[in-house]
Amino acid sequence: MLKIGVLASGRGSNFQAIINAVNTGYLTASVEVLITDNPAAYAITRAEDNGIAGLVMRPEEYSSPDAYYAAVADELGERGVGLVVLAGFMRVVGKPLIDVFPMRIMNIHPALLPSFPGLHAQRQAVSYGVKLSGCTVHFVDEGMDTGPVIIQAAVPVYHDDTEESLSERILKYEHRIFPYAIRLFAEGRLEVKGRVVNIQGRIKDEGVVVSPSIDR
Ligand code: GRF
Repeated sequence: MLKIGVLASGRGSNFQAIINAVNTGYLTASVEVLITDNPAAYAITRAEDNGIAGLVMRPEEYSSPDAYYAAVADELGERGVGLVVLAGFMRVVGKPLIDVFPMRIMNIHPALLPSFPGLHAQRQAVSYGVKLSGCTVHFVDEGMDTGPVIIQAAVPVYHDDTEESLSERILKYEHRIFPYAIRLFAEGRLEVKGRVVNIQGRIKDEGVVVSPSIDR
């Protein structure tokens, strides 16, 4: 069974969605460990509440970013982790971790990549004036939100949206597509060719989620 290691920096609502997916049997996997760079992260409480080991690992306590990511890779490796999930991990992951888990690290980003990478993606979308935004699950490479796209969900952006209202609309879909992407991985259905991810045994538009406008 797939063993998952989660990296999170904050409230951990995506972490919770993954825990729920495991607990309901939607996702056949086990969450082995939560690693956080933030001792105040609410994600730690979620780990405790669900009997998941929680580790605080702060980059400041290591001699370099590379030393930090090598230590994170060691912790994950020791627990037999097969997939690393970035659930609101607010750092660009370093090469020592990527090298140990090539195309085995997934991230969720609250925009339709390659639009609006980096921080405050929802704010960027609102101020740019796009009419559609959404979220993207992708494999992690060395760039900032640049790895191969697995699934995207699109939601409308309304004229009176704020960063908060758009974030809330997008978050509902984050909680749906992240467990779904992990499930596809767990089922061995994701094939990466260059930067294109094919979903094996694809059923019509699997990989594409468009929110109905009645969601408002
Ligand atoms: C989410 O919006 C995610 O897309 C982004 O950071 C946020 C984390 O939220 N990478 P949470 O900690 O999962 O609630």
